[in-house]
Amino acid sequence: MFKIKVPATTANMGSGYDTLGMALTLYNEFEIEKINKGIETVGFGEIGLEENLVYISMKKTLELYGKKADGLRIIAKKIEVPMSRGLGSSATCIVAGIMIADKLMDNICSKDDIIRIGTEIEGHPDNIVPAVIGGMSVSIYENNKVIYSKVNVPKSLRFAVLIPNFTVSTHEARKVVPENYSKKDCIFNLSRVAMLVASMNNGEIHHLRMATEDKIHQPFRANLIPNIDKIFRASKDLGSKAEFISGSGSTLMAIIDKENIHFEEKMNKFLTTIEGTWNVKILEVDRCGALYL
Ligand code: HSE
Repeated sequence: MFKIKVPATTANMGSGYDTLGMALTLYNEFEIEKINKGIETVGFGEIGLEENLVYISMKKTLELYGKKADGLRIIAKKIEVPMSRGLGSSATCIVAGIMIADKLMDNICSKDDIIRIGTEIEGHPDNIVPAVIGGMSVSIYENNKVIYSKVNVPKSLRFAVLIPNFTVSTHEARKVVPENYSKKDCIFNLSRVAMLVASMNNGEIHHLRMATEDKIHQPFRANLIPNIDKIFRASKDLGSKAEFISGSGSTLMAIIDKENIHFEEKMNKFLTTIEGTWNVKILEVDRCGALYL
């Protein structure tokens, strides 16, 4: 019947907790087929229908418009975005579910509707917005409304994702983030996140290291990722421009210049010297967002 392709996303980007996010050239693809009766899922492993985020999001969207689905098979066709690694795999499922519902209703939802419903399901906008519109974005979520704006990302940048073999649950990783901060720490992050948006927009790559510094979530989540300091130091030694935890982890992100062509090979070599298994991928910014194929 039809297919949907949704990009991976990296949220927070260091200083922009629950605010900044960026789509990456790594994708999940879902295919929808007509069947006689009921709803079937294929390719989702052990995940049952009632806990399948694609199905839950499709059902919720249809219900919002007073509709119901029947006679559908939802197939996880190509799954490149690893689960519970801080690369927005939940957002890919939520956005796909909403877009399936929208297609079944003859595309009555605007991008803003998809973003609003998706954010309500996910609870924060920073993965959903870039998954829908592509690129890097700043988002505000308040009173069930999402206000967002795109940020320019210099074409010379590449994003090295360092994906470990262990997962971090976003639910658990949100529990370690404090409720209150000092005025000093608030000013620290405000200055960094504003600088991050300005440096990306102005192509001031030399500011990225300082602009991604953070006192809101990373210091508390670092304990969930063994060897994070060693890995960030190695990455800096290999010429990365900045490093941060992707979303709530466990993936670590290094921003590199496209001319740093040996980064992948050298980082892979370094990662064999520490515990665990790590997979390095060099990605670009996805500039389109979710699409029907
Ligand atoms: N902003 C969210 C967090 C992203 O850091 O908890 C996780 O998907």
